[in-house]
Amino acid sequence: MNLIDGKKIAAEVEQKLLERIALLKQRGITPGLAVVLVGEDPASQAYVRNKDCACQRLGMFSRKIELPASTSQNELLQLIEKLNDNPLIHGILVQSPPPSHIDEQAITKALDPRKDVDGFHPINVAKLAMDDESGFVPCTPLGCQHLLTAHGIETRGANIVIVGRSLIVGKPMALLLLRKGLGGDATVTIAHSRTRHLVEITRSADIVIAALGRPHALGAENLREGAVVIDVGINRIPDTSSSTGYRLVGDVDFDAVAHRCAAITPVPGGVGPMTIAMLMHNCVKACERLTS
Ligand code: GUN
Repeated sequence: MNLIDGKKIAAEVEQKLLERIALLKQRGITPGLAVVLVGEDPASQAYVRNKDCACQRLGMFSRKIELPASTSQNELLQLIEKLNDNPLIHGILVQSPPPSHIDEQAITKALDPRKDVDGFHPINVAKLAMDDESGFVPCTPLGCQHLLTAHGIETRGANIVIVGRSLIVGKPMALLLLRKGLGGDATVTIAHSRTRHLVEITRSADIVIAALGRPHALGAENLREGAVVIDVGINRIPDTSSSTGYRLVGDVDFDAVAHRCAAITPVPGGVGPMTIAMLMHNCVKACERLTS
């Protein structure tokens, strides 16, 4: 079994970004990211903190905007309008999921697509589907693809089963893997909560990408010997022996499957750091495009 070290690969991505950031700084420009969090969900707070830290680490400008759960749709739309017009901000991210009274689609559509570093705006979704590389690709799928290519795992002609059909991971992941060229050319299946015979489907995969958001949902029975596993899940499960009272586990039962995998990502330390690195990548790309 080969461990796919997301921390190491993310650090390499960030190292390369530093060169592009230095070039921008020579022109008096600092890439700026605004991260908006509505409400007090502890997991979202941790993600937002990590994104803010990454900006600091790379010498980028970061504006963290934390709003109470009672924030209205209109207040949020007004904030987005201001950030769209702010020349110091090149990327805008609204942490998902927002409280239930917020219409997430309306918020996404209000973003300037040129600052939509999450790649959730309809323009960017369409560009991904059309293989137009001027758009932004959602960070987690981009990170998963990079883990595969950086590890020399062939996707061309491979049977790849994605478990999960979300707008953030499953659907864009499929589109990316279908693209022509390096990290693409795969035969892609998307399975989800209504899929019949899931075990047979995942067992046919050369590569399984687990993005269901359910702790240890996939076990040894789901994988053939020698499969590659990319585990997107980050689930908090109670753990009284931990000082935080919880521990993080993936959507795949790592201990049960690792011995039969050719390669597997750990949780934490697999996909998570890559998502952040790709967010920084998208933000630098947005800055370069907006200021060229
Ligand atoms: N929540 C979970 N993943 C993401 C992400 O990639 N972007 C945003 N904005 N929210 C998320």
